[in-house]
Amino acid sequence: MAVIALVSGKSSGVTCSALALALASPRPSLLVEADPAGGTVRAGYLAGEGSAAFGMHRLAAADRQSTLAREFAQHFVSLDRDHTGNRMLLPGLTDPSQAPSLARTWDQIATLLGVMDQSGYDVIIDAGRIIAESETRLSTTAYPTPMLRRADAVLLVVRTTQASITSAAPAVRILREELSHNGTGADALGLLLIEEGSFSSSNVQQELQTPVIGMLAWDPDTADVFTHGNYKRTPKALLRSARTALEGPINELVTRRRVQLRLAGVPAVAGRAS
Ligand SMILES: Nc1ncnc2c1ncn2[C@@H]1O[C@H](COP(=O)(O)OP(=O)(O)OP(=O)(O)O)[C@@H](O)[C@H]1O
Ligand SMILES: [Mg+2]
Repeated sequence: MAVIALVSGKSSGVTCSALALALASPRPSLLVEADPAGGTVRAGYLAGEGSAAFGMHRLAAADRQSTLAREFAQHFVSLDRDHTGNRMLLPGLTDPSQAPSLARTWDQIATLLGVMDQSGYDVIIDAGRIIAESETRLSTTAYPTPMLRRADAVLLVVRTTQASITSAAPAVRILREELSHNGTGADALGLLLIEEGSFSSSNVQQELQTPVIGMLAWDPDTADVFTHGNYKRTPKALLRSARTALEGPINELVTRRRVQLRLAGVPAVAGRAS
């Protein structure tokens, strides 16, 4: 049970990685498409299944009418082909022009995601490419920044190629500043690597001065299923590696941070007089 946000500096595989984590989770999971550029899972992986009447684009209106909490779960659609209800999707915006209308709602949605987490769900947020308003701050009008501030882990998706590492560097700097000043601490930030190129995990960790919190396989066949809903192929390596990352280093990071934050919240114990 955790809230994990995935982001990129430049498109690198956030949506496929978020889908892999949501499908690989050993617990019930909720994939939240919060990318302000719009959601693609319903049209892609779900091959158009489910009504477009539900999703993130309806939540700003619900918030204005004070019905957000009541309506929230009605906007989930099943990610399971057998509709068991264990893996859910909150579909993303259908048009990027809808994003500014959510500026005041992201925070409320982040609170509701905390409730899902407390109810036993792994919440995986696809927050797409970051949008900054300065060298040290993320945009609070154009980007779901409140979700990142409250997440247990913010994972920057980077491919093990020079191009991807280079475009990740400014994102690392901004995310670190944002999380340390306005979030729960810069230690929420980690790297989720996609093993496309020849750079090792320790190379990338050293170049970006940020810990690697998981490695996902380079698996074009599964990525194709996730992107286009080609159900004839069976997802393999990517899902296996997502499960390993989730049950190992991601889980460890989340547990460690939760313990630290809870301990930090305990009022100081006065020393006993001898
Ligand atoms: N693990 C992977 N192995 C092979 N190909 C991948 C993998 N992950 C993603 N891809 C491919 O990379 C491309 C981009 O992936 P994806 O849509 O997940 O990126 P994104 O960061 O969400 O992009 P955007 O910012 O445009 O939303 C797709 O063609 C996808 O099939
Ligand atoms: Mg995407």
